[in-house]
Parts: sequence; structure tokens; C-alpha cells
Amino acid sequence: MKRTLAQRMTEGGYDGYAYAYPHKTAYRPLNPRVPLAEAWRGEEKRNLFLYVHLPFCEMRCGFCNLFTTVQPGAGLVDQTLAAIYRQSSAVSGAIAPENISQAAFGGGTPSFLSALELEQLFNHLSLVWPVQWHRIPVSFEMSPGTVTREKLDLLRRLGVDRISLGVQSFVPEDLISLKRPQPSGELERACHSIKAGGFSVFNVDLIYGNEGQDARRWQRSLDRALEWQPEELYLYPLYIGRLTNLDRSGRHPGAHRRDLYRQARDFLLAAGYRQISMRLFRRWNVIRDTDYCCQEDGMIGLGPGARSYTRALHYSTEYAVGQIGVKKIIGDFNARAKSTFAAADYGVSLDEQEQRVRYIIKSLLRADGVSPSAYQRSFGSPMTGDFPQLEELTELGLAVESNGCLRLNDEGLAWSDTIGPWLYSDAMTARMSACELA
Ligand SMILES: C[S@@+](CC[C@H](N)C(=O)[O-])C[C@H]1O[C@@H](n2cnc3c(N)ncnc32)[C@H](O)[C@@H]1O
Ligand code: SF4
Repeated sequence: MKRTLAQRMTEGGYDGYAYAYPHKTAYRPLNPRVPLAEAWRGEEKRNLFLYVHLPFCEMRCGFCNLFTTVQPGAGLVDQTLAAIYRQSSAVSGAIAPENISQAAFGGGTPSFLSALELEQLFNHLSLVWPVQWHRIPVSFEMSPGTVTREKLDLLRRLGVDRISLGVQSFVPEDLISLKRPQPSGELERACHSIKAGGFSVFNVDLIYGNEGQDARRWQRSLDRALEWQPEELYLYPLYIGRLTNLDRSGRHPGAHRRDLYRQARDFLLAAGYRQISMRLFRRWNVIRDTDYCCQEDGMIGLGPGARSYTRALHYSTEYAVGQIGVKKIIGDFNARAKSTFAAADYGVSLDEQEQRVRYIIKSLLRADGVSPSAYQRSFGSPMTGDFPQLEELTELGLAVESNGCLRLNDEGLAWSDTIGPWLYSDAMTARMSACELA
């Protein structure tokens, strides 16, 4: 029987981070393969998001089960970049993009690449994609140990306007508990260099909820973060996934994650930040305009672990967790001939009902909420008729109607990781749980 939202909340509520619906565990081999020209026919291609995934890190952090490999040799990096170039040319040729409106480089740790490799990567992308880096938001993820002045100067010159630094915590005891070793002074040096680089947005990622982290220790980390005056902060509740080092050591997130969340939210709101979603806080005077609309526009993912989305098809390379699986997928990706990249062979189709679910999840979990009239314009039917369960949100005091939108209130946003999975369709939930890696 489907659990109600109230039941899910009683059971703890950290059911999953619904940033991309559906999760990759819903993807399967596509048989027959879908030519990209066909998948993208009829799609709007003026406001595309270009995402480049670089699956390399200096070390594997204890909490992390992202698609990445540690300490790759130079040969593996070269082969992966060469495969990305083949993929990029094949994909661009197949889908005929009109304009890239936003871009991001994520990982892994894209700054694991050398300055020369980064410059070559941007040069390649500039030749192949209709992109004007200096006119659009371009985000780039870094870890403290890979920050250098040379790379920052280059990225700034190439058009990157946002640096996102994986800090996780400013308190050494937390980093030990999270099993993310870091030489003393490295984080401060990285923050200094990024601030001196003059990027429009400096984002700091923090994780809360490791076993030893109490309210005082969390506050110390938040205070230290604000000393750097970041334009954005991403606050991630700790999840301990399968096959991570913390999981193997029998560790669990602390029972106090929601208390730490509320503490941080109240602190950041008082310090002049706006809440954009449960995880994202932005300084009140920072505006990051883009024509790309995450509910409706397409995403082009390049690299071994990237996903791509049209309205009706989400696809990627195969899914794996654990080092052996990830290494095999990178090896297979690197061995592919250019022509094979012009078709999707692993993914999931979204029928119109699934597209509606995705639209609701992507809109509702942002502080702006979901507009019933915009929904009706997109899908031709009333939102309340299609999603009668949304009433439960107002009944439970988690959402309000304001200015014509249904919005999660403070308490509702705190339960985002319950509300997202509660909205998943039964069919997609079954498909995701049937995946042996789920
Ligand atoms: C791709 S990583 C960031 C860049 C870089 N690799 C680094 O770690 O410095 C994206 C972010 O996701 C968050 N994250 C990853 N795994 C997590 C987990 N299991 N629980 C909570 N947050 C997690 C971390 O805050 C991390 O900085
Ligand atoms: S948190 Fe970042 S640096 Fe650590 S393993 Fe994950 S992607 Fe790599």
C-alpha cells in the first residue's frame, strides 16, 4: 500500500534527494537504440543546458558514492578526454543545437584536470557547440586540493562565473568523521584564491549530520563559511549510500539532521540569504539569470557519467556504484567509436504522465513553488485534478497558496526529501526499486 506523506514523515523522512526525476536506477538498456536525431526531433533547442562530467578525484571521500574514480593515471585522463571529444562532436552533429543558455562542469572533480587540459576542453566545446561562455551562467566544481591561481585565472578568462567549492565542513573533526582527509591550511588557501579570482558567484558546499557534529560544531562551520561571504551555499544533509567507506564502517547519519537544517536555515535567513530550495541559499542581492528552464528545456550531458534529457527520454551511460563498476563504465566509454555516440542505448522514456510528475517535483521543491496556471498551459489539464494528493500538503501545514502559486512553507521545505519521493509515480518507484543497485 502506498504510504501517505504523514506516514513517511513519521518514519524519518530522508527518502531521497529528488534533484533529477527519475533516478538513474530507473534507466535500462534501450532496445532498439534511439538515434539522437530522432530523440531530439521536435524539441526546443534554443535554451539548452550543457553539462560536462569529469569523473576524477584525488581521493574517495568516505560519504561519497558519486560516479568518479580516484587517482587515474595520465593515460586514463587522456583517453577519457579524447572520448568526450568524439562524443561531443557526434552528439552536436546529431541533435543540431541552436543555443546553449547555461553550462556546468561537475564530477567528480573537474579541477582535477590540468590548466592545459581545461583550456583544450573549452576550445573544443567552443568549436562544436553554439555557446558564448561570457554571456551565460557557467559553473565549475572544485575541491580544495585542486585549486590553483593558474586554473582560476584561466577559468575566469574562459567565461566561468561561478566556482563551487566542496568544503563539506570548516571544522577538522567533521572532516575526520566524514573521512575526507585534508592538509591543514589547504581549505583557507583555496578560499583565498577563489575570492581573489573575482568570480560573480562563490558557492560553498557543506554537509551536515555526521555522528559527532552537534549544534555548536555546525555553527562553527557556518560562521567560518560566512567569513568568506559566499554568494551561495549548498547545505547537504548527509546520506550514507551503499558501498561507501562510511557504510562499510557501519556509520549512520546522526538523528538530528533536521534540527541542524533548521538551525542553518534560520541563521542564513537572518544573515541576508534567500532560500531557493531546501539545499540552496543565495545572498539576497545576487541574481543569476538564465533562459534555461529546468522543467521544460533539454540537457545535454557529456562525459562517462552524465545524463541527458529531452522531454520524453532521459539517457546516460550505464549506472554503477562501486569502484569496479565505475572503472568498467569509463573503460567502455573510452573505447567507443564516434558513431556510437549518436544514439542513446541506456535510459528511460517518460510518457506524458511521468512528464507531469517531473514538472511538479522540479517546481514544488523550489521555494517559488508551482503555478497551477503555468502547469495547465503546459499540460492542458488542471493541476489539482491531476494531482489530488497535493491537498495533503496544505492539510499537513506544509504548503500555502500565495500569489497564485502552491508553495512549500518553511516546514514544507524542511521535508523536501520526503515530499519528492512521495510524489514519484508507482510505476517509476517500482522500476527504481527493481534495480539491483538501488
Ligand atoms: C561533485 S561533489 C563536489 C566537488 C568536489 N568533488 C568536492 O568534493 O570537493 C558535489 C557535492 O555533493 C555533496 N555530497 C556528495 N555526496 C554526498 C552525500 N553522501 N551526502 C551528502 N552530500 C553529499 C558534497 O557536498 C559535494 O561537495
Ligand atoms: S565528494 Fe567530491 S572529491 Fe570526494 S569523492 Fe566525491 S566527488 Fe570526489
